[in-house]
Amino acid sequence: MRKVALITGITGQDGSFLAEFLLGKGYDVHGTIRRSSVDYRERIAHLEGQPNFHLHYADLGDSMSIIQVVSKVKPTEIYNLAAQSHVQVSFDSPEFTADVDATGVLRVLEAVRQCGLADSCRIYQASTSELYGKVEEVPQNENTPFHPYSPYAVAKLYGYWIVKEYREAYNMYCCSGILFNHESERRGETFVTRKITLAAARIAQGKQEKLYLGNLSSLRDWGYAKDYVECMWLILQHETPEDFVIATGVQHSVREFCYLAFKYAGIELEFRGEGLDEKGHDKATGKVLVEVSEDFYRPTDVVNLWGDPTKAKAELGWDPGKTSFEQLVKIMVDADMAKVAVERAGEQVKMNLEEYLEKGIVK
Ligand code: NAP
Ligand code: GDD
Repeated sequence: MRKVALITGITGQDGSFLAEFLLGKGYDVHGTIRRSSVDYRERIAHLEGQPNFHLHYADLGDSMSIIQVVSKVKPTEIYNLAAQSHVQVSFDSPEFTADVDATGVLRVLEAVRQCGLADSCRIYQASTSELYGKVEEVPQNENTPFHPYSPYAVAKLYGYWIVKEYREAYNMYCCSGILFNHESERRGETFVTRKITLAAARIAQGKQEKLYLGNLSSLRDWGYAKDYVECMWLILQHETPEDFVIATGVQHSVREFCYLAFKYAGIELEFRGEGLDEKGHDKATGKVLVEVSEDFYRPTDVVNLWGDPTKAKAELGWDPGKTSFEQLVKIMVDADMAKVAVERAGEQVKMNLEEYLEKGIVK
């Protein structure tokens, strides 16, 4: 049977892991990219040139480009991962977020219908635990009421409902994975986990003085992105199209993540004070390394996400405990310690070269 996957958002954290996963399963993998004035394909550069890996220009804000790529590729599975995915940014760009994260989903569904693929193409929609927002129960499962609490979450709620609507109205195989936060060494640098692991590595190696964060008490159910992309695939292999919560079932605070990340970077933190006055001190020297800044507070913040993955475990056979919280933090810190070390080595080589050029040792 033909296995042709189209991944929107292939340059993102999840898109890059999913592409690797599907190539490993023998799929022809097609991905959509956007033109940019700088190179942003770092996460998929190692896949380019493989015979069954293909890239196409398309934007979720542009239905013609989506129809064009869908009609050309004729995918058997679409993974719609493309989105303006930063919650805080959605307060600054609410209209763009709505266009891409809400109407963009409709554009993908319609493209499939208009290309005559409604009966043959399965569609995965990247939905989110942010739908639970100002949570109405803990932990959250497939039956928990939604209460979106940011422009991002409101846009994603439209995406969730339009997928359900197309499933019921046109009998299409389309479903949403309601994924809780998942992180990795490829996570964008402005999400809290990666911001912390990168800062811990830089501070430990003398390249940064301090880390400024927002709400340290916010609670998340953090998993490893590599484990979560497998679940996206499992959802589309299920006999019937259904929505699934994907989470670890374990919850930690931003403060705990921060403590552990610094510990793996060789620094033991001690948090003292409360609210905006809370600070993370280096226990060995007393120096303040972490401070709270109002700049990273959100107009409305989601503070208690905790998922219940019972259904995914039972019906998909997925293991939510494959990578523990401690392993996840360690993977990220180790990668950032190596990244900073390489950057420092590069700087040293450059300095040496400049000195040798100046002294005429090399010409
Ligand atoms: P990410 O790293 O921010 O990647 C987002 C991707 O979407 C990038 O490839 C980006 O392309 C692309 N994109 C943005 N705007 C676009 C547009 N107008 N047209 C086409 N492509 C566009 O996000 P991620 O963490 O991999 O998340 C993947 C999806 O899962 C997103 O939909 C996100 O909302 C959702 N989600 C993520 C999590 C999580 O914890 N990671 C949890 C639940 C749901 P550029 O490289 O060109 O910017
Ligand atoms: N980004 C960021 N930066 N968040 C901070 C900071 C900071 O300096 N300090 C505290 N936080 C808190 C935020 O207020 C939030 O409560 C929590 O840390 C997590 O923030 P993010 O890492 O930005 O992720 P998110 O939970 O808002 O959104 C991510 O997960 C969603 C799934 O629940 C994104 O990946 C979304 O795309 C995804 O849908």
